[in-house]
Amino acid sequence: MQALTLSAMSSPDWLRNSVGYEVYIRSFADGDGDGVGDLTGLRDRLEYLAWLGVDLVWVTPFFPSPMADHGYDVADYADIDPLFGNLDEFDRLIARAHELGLKVAVDIVPNHTSSAHPWFRAAFTDPESRYRAYYLWRDPAPGGGPPNNWISHFGGPAWTFEPRSGQYYCHLFLPEQPDLNWRNPDVREEFERILEFWFRRDTDAIRIDVAHALIKDEQFRDNRQVSDPAGLIEPRERFRCFDHVHDLCRPEVLDIYRSWHKIAERYDAALIGETYVREASELSNLVTDDGLHVGFWFAPMSMPWKPEAVREMLEAPHRAIGSQVGWVQSSHDERRPVARFSGGDIGRRRSLGFCLMLMGMPGTPFLYQGEELGLDDARIPMKLRHDPVARRNRGSLGRDVCRSPMPWDDKPNLGFSTAATTWLPQVYRYDESVAAQRKNPKAHLHKVRGLVNLRRTLSNLGDTVRFADDLPDGVVAFYRDDHFFALNVNETLTELDLSGLRVIHRTISDSVARPVLEPDEALVAVRS
Ligand code: NOJ
Repeated sequence: MQALTLSAMSSPDWLRNSVGYEVYIRSFADGDGDGVGDLTGLRDRLEYLAWLGVDLVWVTPFFPSPMADHGYDVADYADIDPLFGNLDEFDRLIARAHELGLKVAVDIVPNHTSSAHPWFRAAFTDPESRYRAYYLWRDPAPGGGPPNNWISHFGGPAWTFEPRSGQYYCHLFLPEQPDLNWRNPDVREEFERILEFWFRRDTDAIRIDVAHALIKDEQFRDNRQVSDPAGLIEPRERFRCFDHVHDLCRPEVLDIYRSWHKIAERYDAALIGETYVREASELSNLVTDDGLHVGFWFAPMSMPWKPEAVREMLEAPHRAIGSQVGWVQSSHDERRPVARFSGGDIGRRRSLGFCLMLMGMPGTPFLYQGEELGLDDARIPMKLRHDPVARRNRGSLGRDVCRSPMPWDDKPNLGFSTAATTWLPQVYRYDESVAAQRKNPKAHLHKVRGLVNLRRTLSNLGDTVRFADDLPDGVVAFYRDDHFFALNVNETLTELDLSGLRVIHRTISDSVARPVLEPDEALVAVRS
């Protein structure tokens, strides 16, 4: 057995033991009947989240935006897009959430602005403007063309030519999302003001988009190419053909979060980073006692259902940052876990078993809307797809698969919206909806809710985890104080010696004392 002992995290007290829930605002609930989710719709559904038992609601960006990337292209960081509401409505949302005991995280996008942001418009139209230095401009390569070999996450080069000055600007995502120059102290000051703005409105946490990539190599050196992108359709696969040492995960970025940490501390607020690292060990460059409070660990979203992989997914980030891991198995950017874990009932069982393990680990587990319903991927016909990744890359699946509207009840559009058409089609069935599942005690929703409640009972457990090496093949298990958590990653029933243990929760079988694990089943037991 291997013992992992880590220092307690320095964070707001409320964050310890919290369970997060991601709301993709466009698709959660539409309050004004225009076919797109909004703040009023979310406020009306907060009671459901309180019933589910989650503690922290992370809301994806709602700032004024041309919506080239559905809000991750921000044109004003201190206001709300009319599509989603206004600042008064935001204040009402926060007030209602707090009444219900829920915390709220706002999604700040500091790596890039929208190309419609006044800073970029000034920088683009006037090379002499002080805002020019807010962005990353480079001359063409000596023989012409982009300054280096960096490519965009969404396909194509990470550089777009600006003819007036003859220079290129850098964008790790769309050309409509120019990257900010985080080596410029003015940019840092702007964002410190933006943080204060949202914290003063009683925001409890911020989720930081692309938190790992704000700082780029000062000399803009080429990334080493490690494989051939030819023939690869998905831009993320092409992206993996390079070793991203110069555009991502620069250690200098921690300095930014140290300043933000001091601001957050004054408001008892938390910093939650979207930390897309290559190796779990890199999390410790960003998530520290005086940097980010929580760093998301995304590798489970591409995890094969194999015992070694499942164990590594749990152990590696924990080894790096202890109880500061943000655990997720789904998000608005990835295929649904049910689909990834082979679809249908098997996918649901696996997702539930893995969820139990995440709830057992020290850190902050997050659910993504619809995960609690066991939703599968949505099949959206090509012509109805909205995601720029699908639109720009012929044949790419894109991210609409996990963004279809939430199914709530038996009303039109399953209660998501009263509009004749919704921005993405409602693809689910009534029996998958919240209302139908709430009525059925055996539904997936109740099982996930049971795990969220279970998490509450674990609140006094320490931050030390020991993985078990002496169990039957295919069983991934760990001890946390006197609690034992195990998941059967075998496709067969596996016997497990439970002597000296009292099982307190299982994900499949009703018979708690049975010394076996069904395929994909997870359990928690306490030393008796
Ligand atoms: C990560 C967000 O989760 C994703 O939806 C967005 O497209 C990129 N960052 C760019 O902001």
